[in-house]
Amino acid sequence: MTAAKRAFITGVTGQDGSYLAEFLLQQGYHVIGMVRRTSTVNFERIKHFQDQITLASADLLDEVSLISVLREYRPDEVYNLAAQSFVQTSWGQPVFTGDVTALGVTRLLDAIRVVDPDMRFYQASSSEMFGKVREVPQSENTPFYPRSPYGVAKVYGHWITVNYRESYHLHASSGILFNHESERRGLEFVTRKITHAVARIKLGLDHELRLGNLDARRDWGYAPDYVRAMWLMLQQDEPGDYVVATGETHSVREFAQFAFEHVGLDYRDYVVQDERFMRPAEVDLLVGDRQRAQEVLGWQPTVSFADLVRIMVDADIRSLQPSKTYVSA
Ligand code: NAP
Ligand code: GDD
Repeated sequence: MTAAKRAFITGVTGQDGSYLAEFLLQQGYHVIGMVRRTSTVNFERIKHFQDQITLASADLLDEVSLISVLREYRPDEVYNLAAQSFVQTSWGQPVFTGDVTALGVTRLLDAIRVVDPDMRFYQASSSEMFGKVREVPQSENTPFYPRSPYGVAKVYGHWITVNYRESYHLHASSGILFNHESERRGLEFVTRKITHAVARIKLGLDHELRLGNLDARRDWGYAPDYVRAMWLMLQQDEPGDYVVATGETHSVREFAQFAFEHVGLDYRDYVVQDERFMRPAEVDLLVGDRQRAQEVLGWQPTVSFADLVRIMVDADIRSLQPSKTYVSA
């Protein structure tokens, strides 16, 4: 019998890390999840399978800690999902964002180079790198024009991954993932902010939802679909970069409209525009061309925009009203 493959995930406590860990467990992997020290435990997203994975303590800000855990666990595959990932925060904490989200990638790549350059590497690149878009839709060949300190940091992370691939022949791939959401999404991101508020309003716990730019458009998919694409990239003979997207774009306004409609309400009665949630520089339109991922990886999304909104609203209603059965409109 051959030994189980070993996968190392940074950011395992985040949305994507939790779905990727579950997916890799189903594939028979031994999963090692990297966690950083916190004063209170934040294992909300992984607690239902925590006993099936190994937790390893390290931090993207500390290269020695990365070298130590890679030496100890000797993974076959390393998935770098850890980041300061909230765009709005990146204006308030630009240096910290650069340290974790940009230089953190170099620390991890360098740790791989030193410990075992045969480890395969996945970098969580982002459609935020396209920013003020140079073409529509955006593909692997579209030039980057980031519009936030976060986007700038991700461009650095992307190119250092390409550079280590070319300099040291690492099997290092980048997934340029467009927005992907789920019931595990952080409450500060606009989709979950909306679905959580819709649930609270429907249940009589709140009366309004304050949002920023309603006209921004995103290509929104379902997170469990997207972690499958990450794994597929590391199963290829050759490393590479792939856009992962649905190919559809919708505005924040449409997301709110669908979410309120799902519970029989009109968003115009509850949504209030608030300057506090506007950004110094906005990404107006994202829509991805996933042709390469579809042809080479055989990847395509399975959840539509309308189903994504329904899944998230229903989950928020269940979580706020766990003891009662709710029938949606
Ligand atoms: P998320 O929910 O915000 O999770 C981020 C993870 O990074 C958390 O586990 C966090 O740990 C960890 N982390 C932050 N700083 C760290 C540090 N210094 N050392 C170690 N771990 C650290 O993000 P996500 O939505 O799952 O996204 C995963 C990755 O994909 C991120 O790199 C994000 O930028 C990128 N991405 C996301 C999307 C999307 O739409 N979701 C699209 C494109 C790219 P704590 O729990 O301790 O805070
Ligand atoms: N968060 C938030 N809160 N966004 C709002 C609000 C609000 O109240 N009102 C309008 N928006 C708009 C933002 O201005 C932005 O145009 C859009 O909603 C989406 O914002 P977020 O959900 O915060 O996501 P993001 O697109 O900035 O970033 C996410 O996707 C990137 C991939 O394109 C994050 O997951 C990044 O980590 C990821 O790289």
